[in-house]
Amino acid sequence: MIFVTTSHDPTEAQVEKAKKLADELKLPYLIRRNHPNISKETHGEYCYVIEKDRIVVKSEHLEFFFHPSMAKVRMKNIQKGLKDHLIDCLQLSGDEVILDTTLGLGTEAILMAAFLDSGRVVGIEGSTPIFVVVRDGLENHKAKESWINAAMKKIQVLHADFKEFLRSCPEESYDIVYCDPMFENPVFESSSMNPLRPFAIYDTVDIDDVNHMVRVAKRRVVLKAHAKDSLFKRISVDKIFGSKRSQVLYGVIDKR
Ligand SMILES: C[S@@+](CC[C@H](N)C(=O)[O-])C[C@H]1O[C@@H](n2cnc3c(N)ncnc32)[C@H](O)[C@@H]1O
Repeated sequence: MIFVTTSHDPTEAQVEKAKKLADELKLPYLIRRNHPNISKETHGEYCYVIEKDRIVVKSEHLEFFFHPSMAKVRMKNIQKGLKDHLIDCLQLSGDEVILDTTLGLGTEAILMAAFLDSGRVVGIEGSTPIFVVVRDGLENHKAKESWINAAMKKIQVLHADFKEFLRSCPEESYDIVYCDPMFENPVFESSSMNPLRPFAIYDTVDIDDVNHMVRVAKRRVVLKAHAKDSLFKRISVDKIFGSKRSQVLYGVIDKR
């Protein structure tokens, strides 16, 4: 069963937040006092636990919550003078509006937003639990680093299927369209992606989707894939950025 509850001894604000989320998702709200062992009650599904400062999605065997740790690691590497292939290939001026069609944990949305002054990021996520956790994290997480807090404020999160969303967008309505679907060849080793995997949508990006991305983008489209994936064999791009070591590739289609 999927349901919403709080941590033990919740504040009034937590109870309010839990009831509001249950209402929004049309799910039952369980009073925690009456349900001490919640993960056992999920019976192969999961529940949303409203804690004091975050939302945790729990099932019997795992926990999924928001944390911007990978954005922090990537920014530290940039500050050390190392290349970040995504930031390199975006060629940002700072005023862009970026459509991130696959928000996931929001790691790359945060990183991109950190390089925007007047620009912003619109992030699309189709999975309900990922959308709920990351929307709340971007709104309420208080990072020690002020650049992360500022970047998170520049991201608007939408719950949608990016395929449908793209088809509803007018021509050239975003400067850049970014798409990072789940890899066909996942990298499991020490991956920050692991807690997200059971909740993610595993859609394939086809040529029709890319044609819509090109239609919707004013400047460029960036696609991400693992070197062993079929994406860049099926879809031709102008330039591929990436590292041989990590096998993570970013393909760029330039419009102007
Ligand atoms: C590899 S993750 C993206 C990771 C992200 N770039 C980050 O930095 O955290 C892909 C995400 O896209 C979502 N997704 C896949 N297909 C989708 C679709 N058709 N519509 C919306 N979201 C989708 C998955 O649920 C998953 O959260």
